[in-house]
Amino acid sequence: MRNFASSRFLPLFFGLAVLTTPCWAAQSGAAAQSVSKASPAPAKTAATTAKPDASPEVCKGCHVAEYGSWEKSPHWKTTLNKTAGPLHQGCQGCHGDAAAHLADPTDTSKLFKFETATPKEINNQCLACHSGDMEHAHALNSVHAKNGVSCTACHSPHHSTQPEFLLVKAQPELCYTCHLAKKAEFAMPFHHRVNEGLVQCTDCHNPHGTEGPKQVRMASTQDQVCYKCHIDKEGPFVYEHAPVKVDGCTSCHVVHGGPNPHMLKVSNVNLLCLQCHTTSSFSSAPGAPSFHNQATFFQACTLCHVAIHGSNFSSTFFK
Ligand code: HEC
Ligand code: HEC
Ligand code: HEC
Ligand code: HEC
Ligand code: HEC
Ligand code: HEC
Ligand code: HEC
Ligand code: HEC
Ligand code: HEC
Ligand code: HEC
Repeated sequence: MRNFASSRFLPLFFGLAVLTTPCWAAQSGAAAQSVSKASPAPAKTAATTAKPDASPEVCKGCHVAEYGSWEKSPHWKTTLNKTAGPLHQGCQGCHGDAAAHLADPTDTSKLFKFETATPKEINNQCLACHSGDMEHAHALNSVHAKNGVSCTACHSPHHSTQPEFLLVKAQPELCYTCHLAKKAEFAMPFHHRVNEGLVQCTDCHNPHGTEGPKQVRMASTQDQVCYKCHIDKEGPFVYEHAPVKVDGCTSCHVVHGGPNPHMLKVSNVNLLCLQCHTTSSFSSAPGAPSFHNQATFFQACTLCHVAIHGSNFSSTFFK
């Protein structure tokens, strides 16, 4: 899964060679197009060159540590973007126009200062470049954004200790700093191995928000996310077990972890089946037929109805 995540960035990296990345495309797509057609020095750039040189090397003179962390992070790549102008490059890309600050270093009033900005201002500042891709399409009104959790709650451009994504901490500890109750769920006897590092919160959730509920990835039908790894459950099957497709995985399973084998919602498989398969229920499910005598009820229903997620061979899911 990590390999997959890093390989996603390869195309981006090569994309830079031709000076286009998805995040810039959104912001300066039109400019980029006209530039590639010939005009190398638009009037805008001429106007801004009247300002003092605010390139990172100038800032480095006084902010050695910040320069160092910036240079090591992928944000140095903004200097390759020749189309957006100096205000979108280097330190100014995040801290805004530094002309007044360079004229008088004690004057920081015109700078964008993340420590004192509101979460909303911070999100806007980062999304000036990062709103152009699917991953961040819902970032402005994500559950996190709406609850005052900004980009810098999870990312630190200067003080990250992580090898990837400028995170303030590695997962899952990053998430547990605020979602401590979830830690207990992943410590239950049957669980997705998140604490062990096999599965990550972000395999299922997009912390930058989603279209559907609970920030679950591909949530238009919540179960899409499960098929990413449990592909054998997707079908289509000749004989579908209705609840799998209609109510979804969570009609029978908990998703994080729980006390029951196979992460079932109830302690006993038979009780689970009989929630729906009773003659007296209002469910559309048929009751277990009468030859299911006492003896049968003491056997797990899935002993015979093996292919409980759907079958291509048996309408009663025997194989
Ligand atoms: C001549 C030295 C000098 C140079 C060059 C300089 N700075 Fe500063 N910078 C300072 C000093 C001193 C402060 C602290 C001002 C204060 O708090 O009174 C500061 C503060 C800041 C802060 C605010 C920190 C905070 O959170 O309060 C930012 C951001 C910043 N500088 C960015 C830059 C950038 C970007 C550049 C390059 C365009 C730059 N600086 C160039 C001396 C410099
Ligand atoms: C990607 C956005 C981004 C870029 C680019 C960036 N900064 Fe920052 N800067 C931040 C954030 C966010 C903070 C708040 C501390 C943090 O979260 O790392 C910050 C904090 C600072 C501070 C306050 C002291 C501190 O370390 O917390 C200074 C000074 C500073 N930046 C200077 C610079 C300089 C100089 C550059 C260019 C070499 C630069 N920044 C590039 C986002 C950025
Ligand atoms: C609740 C924590 C959290 C918040 C808030 C958050 N991020 Fe992230 N972000 C992550 C994690 C974790 C990753 C690691 C990638 C993954 O596993 O999906 C990541 C990855 C990224 C990436 C690189 C991966 C990619 O697919 O593009 C960018 C860029 C990014 N975040 C920008 C932002 C911006 C901009 C904001 C604010 C609007 C933000 N993040 C808010 C946790 C967060
Ligand atoms: C001026 C444009 C710009 C701004 C503003 C900006 N970024 Fe970025 N960011 C970039 C570029 C360019 C990359 C490199 C993309 C690549 O590698 O293809 C990047 C990469 C990232 C990554 C991925 C790091 C990795 O290890 O792959 C994260 C996370 C991120 N930015 C977070 C932020 C956050 C948080 C802010 C606000 C504090 C922010 N960015 C502001 C342009 C910007
Ligand atoms: C700085 C605190 C903070 C961090 C760090 C954080 N979250 Fe959140 N998260 C919140 C808040 C606040 C909410 C909204 C209130 C709530 O539902 O608990 C929220 C909501 C959510 C929701 C939606 C819950 C719902 O009912 O809609 C999910 C899913 C989520 N976070 C996942 C994550 C993941 C995954 C991570 C780690 C990558 C993470 N969070 C990191 C604070 C945080
Ligand atoms: C295997 C996929 C998967 C993983 C891994 C996962 N989640 Fe979830 N999570 C879900 C689904 C699906 C839901 C929605 C459940 C529902 O709608 O009943 C959810 C719901 C949530 C909620 C909101 C509802 C609640 O239970 O409070 C939060 C908060 C949350 N997850 C946080 C996390 C955190 C933090 C991690 C990592 C430590 C994590 N999740 C890992 C799939 C996952
Ligand atoms: C009608 C209830 C029901 C629904 C809905 C359901 N499951 Fe299951 N699932 C079970 C039962 C019962 C078992 C245990 C089977 C056994 O006892 O052998 C199980 C076992 C599993 C297992 C472990 C054994 C195996 O077959 O690999 C996985 C993984 C699984 N389910 C994933 C899913 C996913 C993903 C979904 C949604 C697409 C889903 N389940 C929907 C009832 C259900
Ligand atoms: C990133 C991959 C991934 C995603 C996404 C994922 N799972 Fe899993 N799941 C696993 C792995 C790996 C296991 C094996 C458990 C182990 O040995 O740690 C597992 C185990 C299970 C089991 C228990 C099987 C058993 O026999 O105990 C169930 C049930 C299950 N997943 C349901 C779901 C559901 C429901 C979803 C969607 C909300 C989902 N999974 C999403 C990777 C994933
Ligand atoms: C959430 C409710 C629900 C649960 C739980 C459930 N089922 Fe079903 N089941 C249904 C529905 C609805 C149908 C479809 C009835 C139809 O097609 O008319 C069905 C169909 C079946 C059929 C095929 C019936 C036929 O005549 O084609 C069998 C066999 C079956 N279920 C066995 C089980 C077993 C065994 C379990 C427990 C592991 C179980 N079901 C759990 C709702 C449920
Ligand atoms: C010893 C094997 C066995 C066990 C254990 C078993 N069944 Fe069955 N089940 C059958 C047979 C055989 C049929 C009839 C298949 C046919 O008609 O082709 C059947 C049919 C069904 C049907 C379809 C009824 C219909 O009207 O189409 C349902 C529902 C069902 N069983 C539910 C259950 C439930 C719930 C359990 C657990 C309490 C269970 N079964 C345990 C063997 C078993």
